[in-house]
Amino acid sequence: MDIYDVKIKELPKFTDSRGNLSFVEQLNHIPFEIKRTYWIYDVPGGEARGGHAFRQNEEFIVALSGAFEVVVDDGTQKRSFQLNRSYYGLYVPAGLWREMKNFSTNSFALEFGSIHYDVNDYIRDYDEFIKLKRHGEI
Ligand code: TYD
Repeated sequence: MDIYDVKIKELPKFTDSRGNLSFVEQLNHIPFEIKRTYWIYDVPGGEARGGHAFRQNEEFIVALSGAFEVVVDDGTQKRSFQLNRSYYGLYVPAGLWREMKNFSTNSFALEFGSIHYDVNDYIRDYDEFIKLKRHGEI
């Protein structure tokens, strides 16, 4: 996987004078079966999250409110995505280093994952990530 496998997807949006509605479906807008949903909120100014890679877990990230930046890194190149609309999602395949930063006040990141939580799925050491990537092990 490399940074060009990361994709922004526009989600359905039903605009209505009563308020707008968007939705996601697994194996449709989200290209995997959803095994887990988690969310990040109340992020203090200047904090960053998620400096790690996953061996198996694929993710789909939506800025349900506010804005933040997702930086992905395949060990060779980096790419940054600004998420600031609740009707866009970012698909992040496994095997990439990713970080979330520059959270606006009251931002709310909703994330869908393709596997159940598994502490052993995380690679938290950047040098180890680079080594695994170079050896084609992730
Ligand atoms: P972590 O994934 O490290 O957060 P981030 O990548 O945003 O910095 O998760 C923080 C803590 O939450 C960690 O101790 C494990 C726990 N956690 C779960 O128990 N289940 C989950 O599904 C997630 C995403 C995290």
